[in-house]
Amino acid sequence: MPHDILPRPAAIGLDEYRHRRQALMATLPPRSAVLLPAASLVTRSNDSEYAFRQDSDFHYLTGFPEPDALLVLLPGRAEGETVLFCQDKDPAKEAWTGIRIGAEGAVAHYGVDQAFENAERDERLSELLDGREAVYLPLDDEAAVALAEEVRRDLGARARQGAEAPRALCDVTHLIHERRLIKSEAELVLMRHAGEISARAHVRAMHTSRPGLYEYHLQAELEHEFLWQGGQAPAYSTIVGGGANACVLHYIENASPLRDGDLVLIDAGVEFDLYAGDITRTFPVNGRFTAEQRRVYEIVLTAQERAVQAVAPGVTLAEIHQGVVQDLTAGLIELGLLEGSVEERVEDDSYRRFYLHSTSHWLGLDVHDVGGYRRDGEPRRLEPGMVLTVEPGLYLPEDDDIPEALRGIGIRIEDDVAVTAEGHEVLTSGVPKRVADIEALMVNN
Ligand code: GLY
Ligand code: MN
Ligand code: MN
Repeated sequence: MPHDILPRPAAIGLDEYRHRRQALMATLPPRSAVLLPAASLVTRSNDSEYAFRQDSDFHYLTGFPEPDALLVLLPGRAEGETVLFCQDKDPAKEAWTGIRIGAEGAVAHYGVDQAFENAERDERLSELLDGREAVYLPLDDEAAVALAEEVRRDLGARARQGAEAPRALCDVTHLIHERRLIKSEAELVLMRHAGEISARAHVRAMHTSRPGLYEYHLQAELEHEFLWQGGQAPAYSTIVGGGANACVLHYIENASPLRDGDLVLIDAGVEFDLYAGDITRTFPVNGRFTAEQRRVYEIVLTAQERAVQAVAPGVTLAEIHQGVVQDLTAGLIELGLLEGSVEERVEDDSYRRFYLHSTSHWLGLDVHDVGGYRRDGEPRRLEPGMVLTVEPGLYLPEDDDIPEALRGIGIRIEDDVAVTAEGHEVLTSGVPKRVADIEALMVNN
């Protein structure tokens, strides 16, 4: 199998991070401040930690890759609007876990105006927030709220010396999330790359599949490609479900044998420079669809292709989902799994026995990315720069009332789609989904 190396795309530049901070500050009232903590390391067992993964909001505004940092934005401050607190330089710790960037490094290499080590944090933070009327921070972050309350107490206790404590703590999260929903061109470059690596990983799994392997063998092929191409990790737990395991939506055990005559559903994507790919393909373990598998597959494929075609500015995710529900319900009636008319079966929700999830979610730094799905109580209209998944599926349970040939078939087909001014761009077209193309790719397995 060819195993070439994709050229790495450009990382996001310092100017873009600066622009993001400025754009956020422009939405805040004067004399406000932002406090935003980085992620911390999480213990896995005893003194071992999970691999560090930066907080997505913190990354979006800084690009700073270390744990236990704190971003402070101070709109209008003459000595600099962006202040970063970071881990103390500590040769004893650095000998074990690597060189820390430190305050000087943060200013020199990450474009912040001022930086201090955490040892100075509590004292400096009171100085910085003195006279700021409102502090914007993630209100669901208990440690951040406790820190802000501590500063308020400290400044409040010194009111007679002229200190002015912030009067309000406000939520910053939705302001950042609304900005993250619209991707810049530099972000789209990374998302195309995540899509391309993820697609290659699925191709690799298709090439490798054969009866007698276990689900985890295909997981190993996928994740090998993720790391080979410089991705950091899977963007979420890889799902490889053979046979009826495909009907368990979040099946991640990946421990069963792959059987001749079964389908296998793979939902997997890479995280590259913190951006997620998210692809699902379903294909025959042995490379040839049976007639029944093919009938169900074509129903899902048609619904998926029509939904992708519908992606354009002005359309809503609710409209795309409704189109999928119509197409899948018509297919379920054709298969004899539902009776009556499409309208009736959509109306009484009976299709939900076979299709219980929604068709799309936002995609970006998080696989289920942030940003509101509604606006003013209505489903939000798509705009250029949004990225979403399109992922219809059918899951036929192993119940007595289902014809035997259809029992335990689970099929989902998922692509990542960016909204453009003209319509859309599919980011994950590097892996086939048509029956003939999949069978051709697997012909020599
Ligand atoms: N892989 C998670 C999802 O498709 O939503
Ligand atoms: Mn997925
Ligand atoms: Mn998805």
